[in-house]
Amino acid sequence: MIYLGADHGGYSLKESIKKHLDERGIRYVDCGTDSPESVDYALIAKKTCDEIIKDKDNMGILCCGTGIGISMAANKVNGIRAACCSDYFSAKFTRLHNNANVLCMGGRVVGKGLANELVDVFLDTGFEGGRHQRRIDQLTDIENSQK
Ligand code: RB5
Repeated sequence: MIYLGADHGGYSLKESIKKHLDERGIRYVDCGTDSPESVDYALIAKKTCDEIIKDKDNMGILCCGTGIGISMAANKVNGIRAACCSDYFSAKFTRLHNNANVLCMGGRVVGKGLANELVDVFLDTGFEGGRHQRRIDQLTDIENSQK
């Protein structure tokens, strides 16, 4: 399942991404926010990522004004590998090499058309594995050493 979340800075982009996913027939769960009213991105990131980590095949799309704050918050959750992207190459390679499970974007940075392209390549690209798995394991080791 794909879980979506946004603060007020990313709300409009999230709504536009929902329309795009609907057009592609891709199912998702919207974890809020539900309006352009101000809301704190860390709380939305936590709520969304707590769902994502329940299954290894889950993925997430998070939006705030820049994409940065919500990605920082997401990466505090064990098992989350969130990448803040505003270009196609990064959105593709963070799947190939980092096995990112959350795409973060800035609603004040990325246009809606580009965001759809980033969503598509992120969702449609698989992890390459091999030497990259060793590096992902090292990320997990860091996480576990902090517990
Ligand atoms: C909210 O104004 C803004 O700070 C937030 O959406 C995000 O850009 C933080 O990184």
